Amino acid sequence: MIKAAPEDMMKSYCGVGNPFTLRNVIPDTDLLDVGCGSGFDLFCASHAVGPLGKVFGIDLSPAMVAKAERGLAKTGRQNAEVKVADAENLPFEEGKFDTVISNGTLNLIPDKERAVSEIYRVLAPGGYFLCADMVRREDAPPVDGERRDWDQ
Ligand SMILES: C[S@@+](CC[C@H](N)C(=O)[O-])C[C@H]1O[C@@H](n2cnc3c(N)ncnc32)[C@H](O)[C@@H]1O
Repeated sequence: MIKAAPEDMMKSYCGVGNPFTLRNVIPDTDLLDVGCGSGFDLFCASHAVGPLGKVFGIDLSPAMVAKAERGLAKTGRQNAEVKVADAENLPFEEGKFDTVISNGTLNLIPDKERAVSEIYRVLAPGGYFLCADMVRREDAPPVDGERRDWDQ
């Protein structure tokens, strides 16, 4: 799949894991990628759902959406669509998706509870949320200019 993806799509890929290892995506279903970035996960998802399924990607950054659109156009995928949107206000109706994926996006969102509640709103009953992300277990390191313990 990596070899089949356009170079620009891969250059800007910044996922933190592989949400597709959590379970198989069901063919012929609808899937949403929250924070699709340059579209590599969306590209993989478009293959997983097959030609009768449909995948949507949203991203807060118009530049990333434009890049994803260009990349997906190069691949000729007919079942993928992207738009600019905020994960805290998903522009989709309740229960639209069988699967929602996100890869490295939730850690970037200020109101995570709101984003997760939006994801569950657009998921169909019995649907799946496949998420790869980073969790901080300790305090963040001090920013430059602040005193650190090891400076003493
Ligand atoms: C780690 S990247 C996603 C990688 C992507 N899955 C791929 O295949 O390249 C995280 C993305 O989340 C987007 N993002 C950050 N905050 C967001 C928000 N509130 N709503 C939607 N997208 C957001 C960023 O613009 C970025 O493109």
